[in-house]
Amino acid sequence: MDDRPIGIFDSGVGGLTSINAFSEVLPHESIIYFGDTARAPYGTKSPRTVRAFSVEIADFLVCQGAKMLVAACNTTSSIALDAIRAKQPGMPVQGIIEPCAEKIARECTEDNSIGVIATPVTVGSKAYETYIHRLNPNLKVHAQACPAFVPLIESGAYENGGMDTTVKHTLDDFIKSNDIDTLVLGCTHYPIIRGIIEKLYPGITIIDPSFALAERVKSVLKEEGLAASEWPGRRTFYASDLSQKFLGVIDLLGISGDYVLEQHRL
Ligand code: DGL
Repeated sequence: MDDRPIGIFDSGVGGLTSINAFSEVLPHESIIYFGDTARAPYGTKSPRTVRAFSVEIADFLVCQGAKMLVAACNTTSSIALDAIRAKQPGMPVQGIIEPCAEKIARECTEDNSIGVIATPVTVGSKAYETYIHRLNPNLKVHAQACPAFVPLIESGAYENGGMDTTVKHTLDDFIKSNDIDTLVLGCTHYPIIRGIIEKLYPGITIIDPSFALAERVKSVLKEEGLAASEWPGRRTFYASDLSQKFLGVIDLLGISGDYVLEQHRL
């Protein structure tokens, strides 16, 4: 048994959308979350910068006593896991893309038309296509970069109908021309606007990778003998800019129970 926390991180508020999945699948695990709100978005930065920022966050979480690192950030998961592993040898490091892609590869068929919406860095990496096609080379996978979404979500624009036009402008043609029936939210910020996407494109199956991630982390902890003992886990949320928006997303997602909030600049 190991009661040290799992270190979960993202460029900003996005990874908070995974927290409820972790609370449900791993209720005994303590969590330290880091959202790099002062430097988001990552998905429109260069891969080199994303790697450098991701390695810094990983270092911070390890210094805070994390027993495992979890990138609840597709952008980091698409290009920075090797850099983190090189800096943290021996530390289990899990990204969000692989477990979701494996689930899609197992559960979808050639009749499906799968759409992945994500940041420009994630789309440019082709990470979803690579992991899916490794297990099921015949699946039809289409990817669409949505560079406008994260800055709007970080600014809270989803609150007043301020995103519908941008979502339509970015996705209408992509969804229609590719006949998408299964849409992967390939950026952890996007579950915050899931309601808007569902309203605009009813009937499409939407996949949020968070549950596949939490299930994978559960297996890794078990395999490595790192699972926590039987008591409710503690949660600490760090943000590099602890703004009202960050607190607003915690409320919006209904993240309940006791938790500690801290600001930490890297
Ligand atoms: N939420 C992150 C992701 O899953 C990063 C978004 C960003 O900072 O651009 O890709």
